[in-house]
Amino acid sequence: NIQPVILAGGAGTRLWPLSREFFPKPLLPLNSDHSLLQETALRLDGLSAAAPIVVCNEEHRFLVAEQLRGLNLPSPRLLLEPAGRNTAPALTLAALTAAPDDLLMVMPADHVIREPEAFRAAVRRGAALAGEGWLVTFGVVPDAPHTGYGYIRQGQPLVGSEEAGIGAAVHAIAAFVEKPDAGTARGYLDAGGYAWNSGMFLLRAGRWLEELERFRPDILEACRAAHTAGRADHDFFRPEPEVFRACPADSIDYAVMERTERGAVVSLASGWCDVGSWEALWSLMPRDGAGNAVQGDVLAHDSKNSLLLSNHRLLATVGVEDLVAVETADAVLIAPRDRAQEVKTLVEALRASG
Ligand code: GDD
Ligand code: MG
Repeated sequence: NIQPVILAGGAGTRLWPLSREFFPKPLLPLNSDHSLLQETALRLDGLSAAAPIVVCNEEHRFLVAEQLRGLNLPSPRLLLEPAGRNTAPALTLAALTAAPDDLLMVMPADHVIREPEAFRAAVRRGAALAGEGWLVTFGVVPDAPHTGYGYIRQGQPLVGSEEAGIGAAVHAIAAFVEKPDAGTARGYLDAGGYAWNSGMFLLRAGRWLEELERFRPDILEACRAAHTAGRADHDFFRPEPEVFRACPADSIDYAVMERTERGAVVSLASGWCDVGSWEALWSLMPRDGAGNAVQGDVLAHDSKNSLLLSNHRLLATVGVEDLVAVETADAVLIAPRDRAQEVKTLVEALRASG
């Protein structure tokens, strides 16, 4: 029984100032009529998966519920966090909500997959392994020494990699390194035999809780207490807010995947992309004849290849090119498109200065 778990609660500093807004990245419309979140929910179509569990921030509950309601899927359950504690606690809440034998298919709501059929084939392969107790990751062939990803060194082949052909290989994980520095990442690329972790996971709920108990009993204890004292309200479930706030923050990758001995990696060749930057968002959004990706109240005169997003006011440009302009209630970002990833540094500086 595949139980989709959609993670839709990240801080997303690389998309500042949008991410602090009421309308976060997963809810933006992208390369189709659907938002990233809706695409994610529809991606398992045909696998007879259960109604999704969505873990998101309290603040976004109505937007998320409304977007999913329009999809002709069984009603999702929404687990509402008072504040994000990163992905390990979010997954733990979902694992405590599901049945121990459910196979949790964990999907970030901000990924694009251009070939959903290839993705579903990988999920089918992964489900068999997850049923046997493996913690399954989906590995993508790396093409740059990206430092924002996890790196997976493939160990021994697990099932019929040869018969299954290239792109269908399944391996045990020999090593998992989350976000290595640039030199280390370059070394992995040169050495070969590494895959990027796509950030999706497929694992039995009970197995996740066992591994967490072993490596981060503090997180398990806090989530269990918050879940036990939590309250259901129609399709919403709220873990006890104060108890959940006290939970230590950590990611699935650092908390468990770097340490488990039962990790497996299924190769994924499905046009996967993490929409982690303004540049990535621009390249994925629908564009007008001049190459502009536009959202909201925008007037672009003689402007080209720019990302122009407005939340509250009219945003007007004249004669600009390769620009990112994002207007929100309390901040405006203007940057050349190819330098827009530097907002991460900006946000860190803002935080440091309080
Ligand atoms: N509900 C909830 N609560 N969701 C969260 C939280 C939280 O506190 N924190 C993050 N998320 C969601 C994000 O919105 C995103 O959809 C997903 O969980 C992953 O979090 P990111 O913060 O985007 O992780 P990352 O991109 O830095 O790293 C992960 O993904 C990479 C691939 O994109 C890791 O798994 C890497 O190993 C991987 O390579
Ligand atoms: Mg990400």
